[in-house]
Amino acid sequence: MSQEKNNIILIGFMGAGKSVVGRLLANKLDRIFIDTDQLIESREGASITQIFETCGEEYFRKAESEAAESLLEYSQGSFVAATGGGIMLRESNRSVLKKAGKVILLQVSAEEAFKRVGASGDRPLLNDPRPLEKIRNLLEVRKNCYAEHDYSFNTDGKTPQEICEEICLTLKC
Ligand code: S3P
Repeated sequence: MSQEKNNIILIGFMGAGKSVVGRLLANKLDRIFIDTDQLIESREGASITQIFETCGEEYFRKAESEAAESLLEYSQGSFVAATGGGIMLRESNRSVLKKAGKVILLQVSAEEAFKRVGASGDRPLLNDPRPLEKIRNLLEVRKNCYAEHDYSFNTDGKTPQEICEEICLTLKC
């Protein structure tokens, strides 16, 4: 069945490609692109790293839940959204996202995530002496939360364009 009337919400771990793929998809479908991390940054007037440093992770998670809620203000079929890798941790966020659109998991292995963002310096949770180990642990802790999706796509070894094409083919959009 065609999913063209649904909003599309990309979830998944850091480095899965949600923002890059989301932008491509939004362009292709002629929809607006929303990035929940960017929403938080513009509301708070600070970068994600600064928010973690000055206010802590709990504060960030509250802001993240508000960003998730704001996706409900848009009509169906109007946007493609990329979300932060931890948004699925809260049950309330999971049910908000399900209401807001089709939830699409971009899967990435620990090794590939490490290659893509391990040294980027702008992921506070990976600011760790052993980032690959940290990624493995977080993926393990989060796997049940990520399991609540409508569709999933493996991204390892694929370009953002290839992933975008695959999503369009599967969703017939
Ligand atoms: C986080 C992922 C980040 C950002 C924050 C926390 C997480 O977003 O929201 O650093 O908990 O996995 P990306 O998934 O876009 O890197």
